[in-house]
Amino acid sequence: MTVPPPAPARHFASDNYAGAHPEVLAAVTAANVGHAPAYGDDPWTARLQDVVAARFGPTASAFPVLNGTGANVVALQAASPRWGAVVCTEQAHVHNDENAAPERVGGLKLLAVPTTDGRLTPADLDRFAWTIGDVHRAQPCVVSLTQSTELGTVYTPAQVRAVADRAHELGMAVHVDGARLSNAAARLDVTLAELTTDVGVDVVSLGGTKNGMLLGEAVVVLDPDRVPGVDLLRKQSMQLASKARFVSAQLLALYEGDLWLRCARHANAMADRLRAGVDATGLVTTVPTQSNAVFVQMPAPVAADLRATWRFYDWDRATSTVRLMCAFDTTPDDVDAFCTALAASVRTHGAVVPAAG
Ligand SMILES: Cc1ncc(COP(=O)(O)O)c(C=O)c1O
Repeated sequence: MTVPPPAPARHFASDNYAGAHPEVLAAVTAANVGHAPAYGDDPWTARLQDVVAARFGPTASAFPVLNGTGANVVALQAASPRWGAVVCTEQAHVHNDENAAPERVGGLKLLAVPTTDGRLTPADLDRFAWTIGDVHRAQPCVVSLTQSTELGTVYTPAQVRAVADRAHELGMAVHVDGARLSNAAARLDVTLAELTTDVGVDVVSLGGTKNGMLLGEAVVVLDPDRVPGVDLLRKQSMQLASKARFVSAQLLALYEGDLWLRCARHANAMADRLRAGVDATGLVTTVPTQSNAVFVQMPAPVAADLRATWRFYDWDRATSTVRLMCAFDTTPDDVDAFCTALAASVRTHGAVVPAAG
């Protein structure tokens, strides 16, 4: 008798630990027919233009790329003149987690602003206003918001509008790193356009991989006057896939219907369930759970117990904060098993973390 293999583990490290959604895989298989023009000159990429116009408004155009870092580097370069700098948060992925690709590949200076909850405000732009025109200063030409943020919080449409209006008054373009834009829209129950085009966003790095795709994202240009040249920069930045149809087919699977929303809603709901389970243990969560991530202060012995089974990332070792993230395929049983183990470990080791110092 053959023994069935053990069920594959689902972790809480990142939504990109998840596999691909079956509907995405089916779309890739369906696109695997005959020959098609390369480099995006194919029917799938053409249809993607209609889909992004439906989702983001008639001025929107999509440029499929290979990954989120690439989307950000291309989008930020396009939104910025040669002398431009990018205002972002200190927690921003572009600042912390792209190994200086915006600086080295894009030639962009980042002006990182501290925040407590991952969100920029108009006042954060005001602090750079006086430097505009000073030849000694890198010129703030773009603001980059992450939606949902690296801390799992979301900007409401009104909050985006306020930052975008101030940015435009200062002559800056507005970029959204939307690796998890779908999670924010799902949480706020608004359309993708209501969170971007309608509130003054000029360009979006539109997520795919974290919400069910195999690989790939898209740069979605909303204001082509403020954000020119993405087609040329994409190749120069090594983000133009020759078999682009397979990236576009995945994006179609996600955004043509409601798969993007179903996946994001599910991941968010699993994070809510996880948050409730964590709260029940008495551990301290450090930010509100507004998308698919939970940040919790976890004593080291508890983290070690849990890591015997599950992977998750340290977020801030000074405060013993870890990040727990849910994906489109996280199940209630996954969450409950984690929370049961967490509660048992907290009973053994206690909930207190050493004071940061
Ligand atoms: C907010 C955010 N932006 C961009 C990225 C970059 O994606 P990639 O790893 O595909 O380059 C990530 C990945 O974790 C992310 O979390």
